[in-house]
Amino acid sequence: MNLRRAVFPVAGYGTRFLPASKAIPKELLPIVDKPAVQYVVEEAVAAGVETAIFVTAEGKSAIEDHFDRNLRLEAFLAERGKHDLLEVVRHVGTMVQVVAVRQKEALGLGHAVLQAAPVLGDEPFAVLLGDDIIVGHPPAIARLAELGRQTGAPVIAVMEVPREEIRHYGCVAGDLVEPGVWRVRELVEKPPPEVAPSNLAIIGRYVLTPAVLHALAATPPDRAGEIQLTEGLRRCLAAGPVYACTFPGKRYDAGNKADFLRATVEIALRHPELGPGFRRMLEEVFAEVQEK
Ligand code: UTP
Repeated sequence: MNLRRAVFPVAGYGTRFLPASKAIPKELLPIVDKPAVQYVVEEAVAAGVETAIFVTAEGKSAIEDHFDRNLRLEAFLAERGKHDLLEVVRHVGTMVQVVAVRQKEALGLGHAVLQAAPVLGDEPFAVLLGDDIIVGHPPAIARLAELGRQTGAPVIAVMEVPREEIRHYGCVAGDLVEPGVWRVRELVEKPPPEVAPSNLAIIGRYVLTPAVLHALAATPPDRAGEIQLTEGLRRCLAAGPVYACTFPGKRYDAGNKADFLRATVEIALRHPELGPGFRRMLEEVFAEVQEK
């Protein structure tokens, strides 16, 4: 499976991050020294993706600007001899071809993905949610692409969560076909734990096929008026197999304030330049807090 295009739905309001996300897209909030969305785009690029399709909304165009060249800034840095920073800025501006499409109303994740249909062509594509930061090698989405290549079917990333937390996720139940891979039997969006068919939660990585777009186009909105990607995928089950798989790396829910902080601390501790100093600083902070 040739996975050249990836869709990044970034049109949500980010209500869990208010007021920080009021004027600044939550996807641009920095984790250590990069905006959250850059980690996700880098994961896709590391898996061979050449074109990033951002599904954006009013007030979010800074996201596509981040991945554009900024020639004035580059000239300024070159003139001042700041070659390291010039390299960093050029890298971000050249790592991927950028396409932006608008979701004119926040009508759900499935609706957001559908907005990218006109630029997707007739080949499989990846979907990566900026809320889910996955750190590690090989890139998580490459695992899904590999399974997509083997099966020609849509693939969903999943992770086991404590049963009481499944209500916050899409939920998958299926037949284990090899360690960490299930053929999906059932998909439910945010089920109450008592009726959830499993504790396998959908994480924001997908490899989808044009057939999923057709199913989404025929998916009616739910009671809240949103078209759910989970429901579109559920409708694909009748037409052919859908697979779910676990993935390598550590995942953070960066749409949630507490997990965002955890990502910041862990990534900072592992940072080659900042890490050692940051560790000492944290030790000082803990000592100070304990004294009080
Ligand atoms: P979320 O529901 O987690 O994100 O959707 P949100 O709506 O931005 O944030 P909260 O829950 O209010 O804090 C998951 C992903 O899908 C995108 C979001 O931008 C996020 O990356 N999304 C969601 C859209 O692009 N459009 C939508 O209509 C809904």
